[in-house]
Amino acid sequence: METTTIKQCCATFYGSDLARILLGDSFHPGGVRLTQRTGELLGLTPDAHVLDVAAGQGTSALHLAKSFGCRVTGIDLSEANIVAARAAAESLGLAGRVHFELADAERLPFSDATFDAIVCECAFCTFPGKAVAAAEFARVLKDGGAVGISDLTRTVDRLPELEGLLAWIACIGDALPVGEYAAILSDAGLVVKKTELQDDALAEMVRGIQARLLGVEIAYGLGKLNIPGLDLSAAKEFARVAAEAIRGGKLGYAILIARRLA
Ligand SMILES: C[S@@+](CC[C@H](N)C(=O)[O-])C[C@H]1O[C@@H](n2cnc3c(N)ncnc32)[C@H](O)[C@@H]1O
Repeated sequence: METTTIKQCCATFYGSDLARILLGDSFHPGGVRLTQRTGELLGLTPDAHVLDVAAGQGTSALHLAKSFGCRVTGIDLSEANIVAARAAAESLGLAGRVHFELADAERLPFSDATFDAIVCECAFCTFPGKAVAAAEFARVLKDGGAVGISDLTRTVDRLPELEGLLAWIACIGDALPVGEYAAILSDAGLVVKKTELQDDALAEMVRGIQARLLGVEIAYGLGKLNIPGLDLSAAKEFARVAAEAIRGGKLGYAILIARRLA
């Protein structure tokens, strides 16, 4: 699939009402519980300036600011998400400490050595230029700063049962083995300090999506809901196959922490 299509398709879906209906406010497995874990592994402190790459609707950035007292800048490719994230920051009274900008992870609009830490949740695997994004992470991190990526992983060469447009939307399209993420970060000059498997969080998320799809189906049947562009049968089948791949240990989720050496 062409790279601009992949990027825009991901940004369009995650900026849509459908994404909120199926996933709630947090668009990654484990929700803010895993965001908290990533923040702890990064050792965030109140004086840290954190970059949230592909921040979605800002849920994680706002959680980090509240929980660790840090300053956070979030970027995302979806304009709808940036508008929603800014509104959420305003309504929580955090707009002074948490900012959002429309930007591409592969071309970060920040000077070298700007941030103490970076988080990137459930998005790195969708970037067509992963090495370019990793090099950007290394460039904008201060010496001694660290990046925490949480992402979809696969343990098999290919997942042919989970290919196509829905796979890209679900961020499975280019999910890599943990070792390949680690190699990309190392090649960018970052030192991988920790990897932590979080497969249960993904299984739980897929169960949640299946339950919500059932709710959507009932609302459809009662004529109470109409979501243009949603192929309910295809989505249900995709979720079923994904759940099977997780149970079979082919598909999972992991946190990786990598540091830029001083
Ligand atoms: C699965 S969502 C995760 C959102 C957020 N990190 C969270 O966990 O709630 C993926 C996000 O990546 C964003 N995205 C995709 N490609 C991007 C890129 N090249 N640069 C910045 N954001 C991107 C999408 O707009 C979407 O909001």
